[in-house]
Amino acid sequence: MNNIKIMAFDATYMIHVHPVDCSTSSVVESISCTKRTTAAEVVAKVTRKLGIENGLSYVLVEMHKDRGEEMILAQSDLPVQRMLLWPTQFQHSYKFVLRETDESGSVMYHGANSWHEKAERVSTERDMASKGFLPPSKLSDSDCPDLCAISSLSQNKILEILRKRFLKDKIYTYSADTLISINPYKFMPIYNPKYMTLYQNRRKEDLEPHIYAIADTAFNTMVQTKQNQCIVITGKSGSGKTQATHFLVHHSLALCQKSYMTGVENMLTGAGPVLEAFGNAQTEHNNNSSRFGKFLKIHFYGSGLLSGADVQTYLLEKSRLVHQEPNEKNFHIFYYLLYGTSPEELKEIYLDQNTNYNYLKQLLGVKALSQKWCLSSITKCSKHANTDAPAELERLRQAMEVMGFYIGAQRSIFRLIAAIILLGNITFKMKSGRDETLEIQDESYLTSVSLLLGLDKNVVRKCLLTRKAKAGAGERFVLSLKLEEARATRDAMSKALYQSLFDWAVSSVNMALAQKTRDTKLKSQSQWIGLLDIFGFEDFVKNSFEQFCINYASEHLQHYCIKHTFQLEQEEYRAEGLTWKEVDYADNSGCLLLYEKKITGLFHLIDENFPGANNHTLLSQFNRVHGNTRYYDTTVVKEDAFMIVHYAGKVKYQIKDFREKNHDQVREDLITLVRTSQSSFIQGIVSKSPAAVVRWGVLRAIVRAMFAFKNAGKKTLRKFFSY
Ligand SMILES: Nc1ncnc2c1ncn2[C@@H]1O[C@H](COP(=O)(O)OP(=O)(O)OP(=O)(O)O)[C@@H](O)[C@H]1O
Ligand SMILES: [Mg+2]
Repeated sequence: MNNIKIMAFDATYMIHVHPVDCSTSSVVESISCTKRTTAAEVVAKVTRKLGIENGLSYVLVEMHKDRGEEMILAQSDLPVQRMLLWPTQFQHSYKFVLRETDESGSVMYHGANSWHEKAERVSTERDMASKGFLPPSKLSDSDCPDLCAISSLSQNKILEILRKRFLKDKIYTYSADTLISINPYKFMPIYNPKYMTLYQNRRKEDLEPHIYAIADTAFNTMVQTKQNQCIVITGKSGSGKTQATHFLVHHSLALCQKSYMTGVENMLTGAGPVLEAFGNAQTEHNNNSSRFGKFLKIHFYGSGLLSGADVQTYLLEKSRLVHQEPNEKNFHIFYYLLYGTSPEELKEIYLDQNTNYNYLKQLLGVKALSQKWCLSSITKCSKHANTDAPAELERLRQAMEVMGFYIGAQRSIFRLIAAIILLGNITFKMKSGRDETLEIQDESYLTSVSLLLGLDKNVVRKCLLTRKAKAGAGERFVLSLKLEEARATRDAMSKALYQSLFDWAVSSVNMALAQKTRDTKLKSQSQWIGLLDIFGFEDFVKNSFEQFCINYASEHLQHYCIKHTFQLEQEEYRAEGLTWKEVDYADNSGCLLLYEKKITGLFHLIDENFPGANNHTLLSQFNRVHGNTRYYDTTVVKEDAFMIVHYAGKVKYQIKDFREKNHDQVREDLITLVRTSQSSFIQGIVSKSPAAVVRWGVLRAIVRAMFAFKNAGKKTLRKFFSY
């Protein structure tokens, strides 16, 4: 763990104050400071947070763990400034420690953990009070762990409560069955075994809100009712959905009985890094943003014995492969390979770190970028900021090993990734002296790509520069491609290869996670907990078809949650004859209709295909049918864009490439070409058709989740939101 975490948006630094023996306890207090915060102020903050009285009898000590050196900070010393002087490579050796002093001001070394014990005692007393063993301390609204317990709620009040709780490091708050989570963007000492034990088989109301309580409820409900459970995680990009999925998986694994025969637990741990390497990337909002949706199901036999898992993925954002917006990067795997591999190994796959690769251009805009590949200002607070590609590559290799990717497959994956990088550098120019005929600018890239893919170079060239057309009854002739067409063909080939690789990785992960038993009776008795970690709402400077689909999925989830929070709850009150004041809520079904209504919905208009149809005619159609209605707006200044009024705000979408991305068709001859590869790995991964209409993936995810909810029954529904 790093001792320092720099918040990107202001000059705030996190100081972590440890108990003395930090090797045996993970208890640590994190204090937000500036360069001017004094040691005395840090001590006061820590002791106040811990609830231990008389902060004056403590001092802050800087400790060098390995050398055993300690240096007591004077009251006016500035801890942040000291911390900034710690050598980067030895940061983990330095700690700040809180030490107790006696009346004379000397540090007491006996019972050095006493502040820690006192803090434990205070928190135990609080626990006991909450259980009714001690008189409860009076809770103010701002301490209220469940918004439903507040008598009069308004939007401002909710925000105020969440803010006040957040400032006290209480990042979780319930709203009945829903858990609201606010991303702290800092280390929180609440995910350790102590908390795992604390939140096992406990009533939700007994403890502070916690993500572990959600996993605990889902698990126990599943075991008791023998019904599948589903946890939906939704929120904006960077709000902490994937992190929440990790916590839920880990806690579910702690709750269940393990089967030593299957090793599924290990496999689940390995699946994360593999999927993230291929499917995550740095975006403007999140350095490790999931660029695909996933529905992870953990299977258990009736008694709660872990039996297996499976993961379904949706809508990989393939366009990122060939183009990234400023401040964004390609999928992590490309940088792991390029900057994590030795120059000698790279040479074998025709790569080198000094070449400017078109598909990675955003990153390599500055030529001699260091191996620490995440250096832009927005990466400073990310977990990747201090890690380098070799370490990430090593982690990926380990994970692939755990998942059973044999060494040969790993090598083939890296060769394919290299081929895709090099494909991006195949550019075209007009042949001199001949009209409209193209040739490849630098044949060496074509040679490398063909060798890496195990294909005949001449056939690849032909595919990239020409296409076959039908003349009439069975007659065929060859047409030279125009420059734009040749580029599009090259990019389509890269995307098809990457999608195939991603699909192969997912199915290999699933094979490793699958239930191993052949006992059909046991299988039929198994249940699962499903975790839906699907793209958050997105609104970038430029939004395209991907954001259009992602925000459609978000609208659906929003609709589902509104329905359950307000509509069905009120119906239940009505059925039970209760009197209540009708709650007015923003129903977003109009926005869903805008997308999906038969004949006039935007999806139906995108599918329309008539001679001369292009993105301009599509935008005109959109404007003509929906112009300036409640959920649709034209742009103020004339541009190739339209706006949708979503539940989370108005988003402007650029119409460019909408039709192409919707059809996402790959030329049949390209697929046929790749299938002729001499590499059995490449042949294997393209055996399934890589062409897919992306939005159906999104729809499938939603329908599946809805179905799971219905099965689980409303009463057992667990919803989880993160904002
Ligand atoms: N509970 C938490 N405690 C500390 N840090 C957190 C927590 N949750 C999230 N983070 C930090 O926030 C970052 C972004 O979180 P995460 O990747 O889970 O977001 P996301 O909602 O999945 O975003 P996206 O939709 O872009 O995939 C993480 O890399 C992590 O550093
Ligand atoms: Mg994510």
